[in-house]
Amino acid sequence: MSHLTIIIVSIIFLSPLAFAVTAESDTPTAYSLLQSYNFPVGILPKGVVAYDLDTTTGKFHAYFNNSCSFSLVGSYQLNYKSTISGYISENKLKKLTGVKVKVLFLWLNIVEVIRNGDEMEFSVGITSANFAIQEFLESPQCGCGFECKDSKLGSFAGRNTPFVSSS
Ligand SMILES: *[C@@H]1O[C@H](CO)[C@@H](O)[C@H](O)[C@H]1NC(C)=O
Repeated sequence: MSHLTIIIVSIIFLSPLAFAVTAESDTPTAYSLLQSYNFPVGILPKGVVAYDLDTTTGKFHAYFNNSCSFSLVGSYQLNYKSTISGYISENKLKKLTGVKVKVLFLWLNIVEVIRNGDEMEFSVGITSANFAIQEFLESPQCGCGFECKDSKLGSFAGRNTPFVSSS
C-alpha cells in the first residue's frame, strides 16, 4: 500500500504551520497549512504541537512532543524527529530535515517531497519513489501509523520497495 508515501507525507506536513501573526482563532493548523500548499495531510503525522513558518521564504519548523516512528504496511519504517524543518512552496517540500525512512537496512533522510498531479514523489537523494495521493488522505499516528484500527501486520518482507526499484 502506501508505505513510502506515508512516510514522506508525514515529514512534509509537520512543517508548515504558523502564521504567528494572525489572531489566535484564525491561526491555521499545521495540517490545514499543508493543504493550502496543495499537499495532503497524510504526509504529516498526528501530534504536531507547534510550528513556525516564514511565509516569504517558505522556511518552516514543526514540533512534536517526542520523536515519532511507525511502519507502513508491510514495508517501510518512518521516523520523525521531535523537530522537523524544511522549505515549503506549492507542491514542493525541499531541504527537509528530521524525517527518515528505513530502506532495506539503511535509514535514509527524506529530503524532498513533490506533488505531481495525483502522485507524491519522495526523494532520499540517491533515488525517489512515487505514491498515489490517495495513500495520504489521513495523517498517520505515531506507533501504529496508518493501521491503527485493523492491526493486521502483513508480511514485513520486502513487499513494496519502490525506493529500491525506481530509477
Ligand atoms: C505535549 O506535551 C504537553 C505538556 O506536557 C501536553 O500538555 C500536550 O498534551 C502534549 N501534546 C501531545 C500531542 O502529546
